[in-house]
Amino acid sequence: MMVSPSILAADMLNMERDVQRMVDAGADWLHVDIMDAHFVPNLSYSPALVAALHKRFPALPLDVHLMMDNPEKYIGVFCDAGAAVLTIHAEIGADVAALLEEIRSRGVKAGLSVKPGTSAQAIAHLLPHADMVLVMTVEPGFGGQKFNAAMLDKLAELRRMGYAGLLEADGGVSMANAATLRAHGLDVAVMGTAMFQSADPAEDMAAIHAM
Ligand code: DX5
Ligand code: ZN
Repeated sequence: MMVSPSILAADMLNMERDVQRMVDAGADWLHVDIMDAHFVPNLSYSPALVAALHKRFPALPLDVHLMMDNPEKYIGVFCDAGAAVLTIHAEIGADVAALLEEIRSRGVKAGLSVKPGTSAQAIAHLLPHADMVLVMTVEPGFGGQKFNAAMLDKLAELRRMGYAGLLEADGGVSMANAATLRAHGLDVAVMGTAMFQSADPAEDMAAIHAM
C-alpha cells in the first residue's frame, strides 16, 4: 500500500524540513488539502504552495485534494502548478464527469472524493471517469479527527461494484487501522497526524508498504 502524508499536519513554518523528512522516510505521494471556507469550514493553502512544492521536490507526486465549490475555475491552475493527482468532490453540484475528464485531458490523474454521507451507489455513474476514488473517513475540513470505521464498507462496496481504479482513504488513518483499510481494498493511505507526529516515519511507511 502507498502512503500520502498530508501536510495539514506539518509545521507550516518548517514546511521544507517536514516534507524532506517524509521524502526521506519513503513517502509515495504528498497530500495537499485545498480548503475554501465554503465547501468546508476552514481555509488552507493556495496554488502558490503547490507550485513551490513542485519546484523544490520535482520527483514527489503531489496529491491535491480540492475541498472547494466551483473547482472548475481552478483545475487548470492546479494542474499547471504541478499536481500529479487532482481530486474534486462529488457533492459540488456541477457536471463532475466533465470536470474529471478535463483533469484527465491535462495529463493529470482525476480523483473523485466522497464525504461520509455520500454512498458508493451515488457515484456509480462517475466511476468510469475517475482514476482514483478518495473516501473521506472523517467530515472534511480539519486534521486530527477520529477515523469513521463505518466507511470501511464503502471501500469494499466500491470494489464489489467493480471499481478497479485506485482507492484512497483520508481522515484519521493511522498504524492502528491501516491493515484493516488494506483488507477492504485500499491502495493509498493519506496520513497527516499519524505520519508527521510519528517517532519513526520510515519504519511506519515500510510497514504500510509491506501491507
Ligand atoms: C481533512 C483532510 C485530511 C487531513 C487528514 O479534511 O482532507 O487530508 O489532513 O488529517 P489526519 O490524518 O490527521 O486525520
Ligand atoms: Zn485531504
